[in-house]
Amino acid sequence: MNKFYVTTPIYYVNSHPHLGHLYTTLIADTVARYKRQRGFDTFYLTGTDEHGVNIERAAENAGLPVKQHVDGIVNEFKTAFSSYEFTNDHWVRTTDDYHKRGVRQLWQRMKENGYIYKGKYEGWYCSNCNEFYLEAEAGAAPDGTLNCPVHERPLDRIAEESYFFKLSAFQNRLLELYETNPNFIRPESRRNEVMSFVRGGLNDQSISRVSVKWGIPVPDDPEHTIYVWFDALSNYITAIGYGNDQFGGEEHYKKYWPADLQLVGKDILRFHTVYWPAFLMAAGLELPRTVFAHGMWLSGGRKMSKTLGNVIDLAVLQKYFQTDAVRYFCLREMVFGQDGDFTYEALLDRVNADLASGLGNLASRTLTMVKNYCDGEIPAPGEANAELKDHANEVREAVAQAFAVFDREFDQYNFSRGLEAAWSAMARVDKFISDAKPWDLAKQPNGREALNLVLHTASETLRHLAVLLVPVLPVSTQAIWEQLGESGQVSEVAPATLKWGGSSLRGAGARIGEIKPIFPRLEKKKIMDEIKQDESASQAARSAENAPIVEAAPGIAYINIEDFTRVELRVGEIKTAAPVPKADKLLCFTVDVGEPQPRQILAGIAQYYEPEKLIGRKVIVVTNLAPRKLRGLESQGMILAASIGEEGRPVLAGFLEEVPNGAKLK
Ligand code: MSP
Repeated sequence: MNKFYVTTPIYYVNSHPHLGHLYTTLIADTVARYKRQRGFDTFYLTGTDEHGVNIERAAENAGLPVKQHVDGIVNEFKTAFSSYEFTNDHWVRTTDDYHKRGVRQLWQRMKENGYIYKGKYEGWYCSNCNEFYLEAEAGAAPDGTLNCPVHERPLDRIAEESYFFKLSAFQNRLLELYETNPNFIRPESRRNEVMSFVRGGLNDQSISRVSVKWGIPVPDDPEHTIYVWFDALSNYITAIGYGNDQFGGEEHYKKYWPADLQLVGKDILRFHTVYWPAFLMAAGLELPRTVFAHGMWLSGGRKMSKTLGNVIDLAVLQKYFQTDAVRYFCLREMVFGQDGDFTYEALLDRVNADLASGLGNLASRTLTMVKNYCDGEIPAPGEANAELKDHANEVREAVAQAFAVFDREFDQYNFSRGLEAAWSAMARVDKFISDAKPWDLAKQPNGREALNLVLHTASETLRHLAVLLVPVLPVSTQAIWEQLGESGQVSEVAPATLKWGGSSLRGAGARIGEIKPIFPRLEKKKIMDEIKQDESASQAARSAENAPIVEAAPGIAYINIEDFTRVELRVGEIKTAAPVPKADKLLCFTVDVGEPQPRQILAGIAQYYEPEKLIGRKVIVVTNLAPRKLRGLESQGMILAASIGEEGRPVLAGFLEEVPNGAKLK
């Protein structure tokens, strides 16, 4: 039997679960279900990444022993995921004992093979990324220190004895891997990115810390703990038995490794396609077959983040939307591999259009007609006229076509296209029903044969679609299966064994089950209003945690620090300034705000400043204001000025000391 091993990243327990985490887990679940249904001996792994200084600090803030703290968050993840019918075979935790043993064994193999050595490390470290940055990569902070390019928080200068991994020795082997195995990194665009990064040269990597206590001790040198990414990446082999007795150990590991699909967000691609294969090469182990980097769910056009307050809360999602609705939306709406914007409006529209009016409606109209016109028994196909028979055959072909396309697309992880194929078969049968008008046939004295053919064809389409869609819609397909009067688990029916007309072979007297709505239509306005209320209540709860200690004076609406941090203010230097033709108040500037290209910004200060005198002046720029057009010119930010007197005379804000362009104000 062919095997299939699929993994997700293991999630950091320093933040609470959100839609992004759910997404990768949901994709992996769909793939695992899809493979199982097609006869693969499948192993599906997910879990949590629980070591590192951040987690130690979070526990300290919570006033809890670290293990107790992480146990709580792991439970939160498991609870948040529990309503999505995930079928993971295991949940790995990096604090599990078997994992620690496996990590140490991997370390030892790499060391014996000469790829780990002891040295001294000095560099700029971000404890949020758990990564060192070069000075050139970091941004300057106003106080002269360096900022993390991702988190924009000060980097720590760390100098310590450290173990190093000889990553530099793997440049050619990695390039050869990418070239000879085009499927190792997918999609293609990501592969190109990684290749150019590796071509740029690889430095040896520090893989231990003496400053971090909450980690796995280095074998024979317990002063050092193993770098969290080394620890975390190893989970993919330790969880299936590498270097320990988990699931029986070695034999189980050998059965499933190498992984067939490692799903990751594009944010952590480099770790999985440069470090990870190099670690495995260094230990003499096989390499995963495919690392697939999917895109990010954005919210309001920006990556979801707790600081921005735009994460999609899993509790809200679960309160208003059925399991299958969320699963379907995530797979259908986002082109796998690209970024996608999440909005509740889009989710509601999809559910109503594709699930309520699509699949749900097909199920209820078909089953209701079987109940009303055929006494609840799915009829054998009747001997209808040639034209109707042709149409019935076209439906049958459309279903066969949907099966072929669905598999072809799912094998390539093109989920949305696979689903489109199923929905086009649905559209075909819907048209067939509407054209044939079974409600009229039922009234005609000689309409019985035709009626039977229509309802047989519709029921068979539904039965086939239930089998096809089970990896994506496990709950509703089972409900449809039972309402059709079928027994057992639809997930256990292999598509290859399905036969058209199988339902009429269920034996005389077999009846459909009780008809219940599968996807009730959602009232968009009502639900949106309720969601908004829920969101502002949770926002208020969050703000209350940071509530100011003074009461707002009359006329002042206090904001909290989160509100303030949503406005991005940076130091800019005016590079060029010119009047805007036919606009006597406007000046058009190019301003260097520390980005590769200066920005074009317009300001209504022409009556008070001579443009040429402003060149070289340092100003404060709002850099995350949505661009807008003024007199046909795009303004990509706003320059701050005080507004004086009744006429509102602008006085540009500036600095008395030297400040670098791009420095953030906070
Ligand atoms: N612990 C590391 C991974 C170690 S794997 C050996 C980590 N954890 S994480 O909690 O930050 O999770 C990152 C992963 O969560 C992403 O790679 C992606 O799979 C998923 N997502 C997090 N936010 C996401 C979105 N906004 N959109 C889609 N997926 C996202 O990095």
